[in-house]
Amino acid sequence: MRPIIFNFGDNDRLFQSVAEDLGADLGIVERRTFPDGESYIRFETDCKGREAILICSLDRPDAKVLSLVLAADTLHDLGATRVSLIAPYLAYMRQDSSFQPGEGITARYFAKLLSRHFDWLVTVDPHLHRFRSLDEIYTIPTTVVRAAPLLASWITNNVAKPVLIGPDSESKQWVADVAARANAPALILKKIRTGDHTVRISVPKIEAHRERTPIIIDDIISTGRTMVATIEHLVEMKMAAPVCIAVHGVFAEGAADLLSHAGATRVVTCNTIEDKSNAIDVSSCIAAAAGALDGTHINSRSSTNS
Ligand code: R5P
Repeated sequence: MRPIIFNFGDNDRLFQSVAEDLGADLGIVERRTFPDGESYIRFETDCKGREAILICSLDRPDAKVLSLVLAADTLHDLGATRVSLIAPYLAYMRQDSSFQPGEGITARYFAKLLSRHFDWLVTVDPHLHRFRSLDEIYTIPTTVVRAAPLLASWITNNVAKPVLIGPDSESKQWVADVAARANAPALILKKIRTGDHTVRISVPKIEAHRERTPIIIDDIISTGRTMVATIEHLVEMKMAAPVCIAVHGVFAEGAADLLSHAGATRVVTCNTIEDKSNAIDVSSCIAAAAGALDGTHINSRSSTNS
C-alpha cells in the first residue's frame, strides 16, 4: 500500500517532489496553536494500517520539534504501521562533544528523542564529525543522502576552471569527494573558531591556483562567519571573487548579506532548507532513500545517489 506523507515543514516544493517521486499519498493535517501557545494537531487522512511519513527540515528546530513528536505519537495511536521522518536538514549535530565544563552532548540527547518517536529517519549530509555515523547516536534505521554528486555536477556545468576550497578540516570529507567527482584541485584551510561569531582562517599555498575560480564548499552556512573569513583570506591572496556552495543554507542573522558584502559572486545551496540560493535539487535522492527504507516503489523521475 502507498505510504501517506505529511508536510510539517515550510518547503512545499520539496514536499511535493518527494511525494511524487515516492509515489506517496498526500496526507491532510490540521495544525494550529491554542491561545495558550500549545499545539493542536488533527490528522484528517485516515492512517490506520498505513505507513506515515512526516517531512520537516530541522533548521530553527526548537520551534518545530515538539509538534513533530506529538504528531508521531498521535499517528502511532491512530494505527499507522510505522511513523517515519524525513529531515532534509538534521539539527543538533554540531554539539557532538562537551566543549566546556557544564555542557551536554546535545547531539546524543536529540538523537535519543527522535529515535524514541520515529521508526526510521532519512536526512541529507548531517554534520558528522566526532560521530562517524548516525548509528552511533540513533537507535532507529537511518539513511544519509550524499549531496556530493549533485554538487559536483553543478560545478561541472556552471564553473570553468574551478579550485575547490574547504574552510576547515571538517569540510574535507565533502570537498575531497566533490573535487574528485568534478575533476578539480582542492585545498583545505585551517579554521580557528574563537566564538559564535568569530572565526580565523589560516593560509594554505593558494597562489598556484590564481587563474582558477575559487569555490568555497562547506556543509552548512549558519552565521556565515566561516565563509566570510575564507572569502577575506582569498581577497588578501588576490584570488578571483569566489562562489560559495553549501549543502544546507541555514542563513542565521543576515548571513546572506554578509556573504555578498564580503565579495561572494554567488551563493548556491541544496533545497534542504528553502531559500533563494537553492540551485541543487535533492528531492529525487531523498525519495529514493525513503523508498528503500519503506520498501515502496519509486517513480521513474527518482535516481539513486551514490
Ligand atoms: C562546522 O564545522 C561546519 O562545517 C560549518 O563550517 C559551520 O557550521 C558554519 O557555521 P557558520 O556559518 O556559523 O560559520
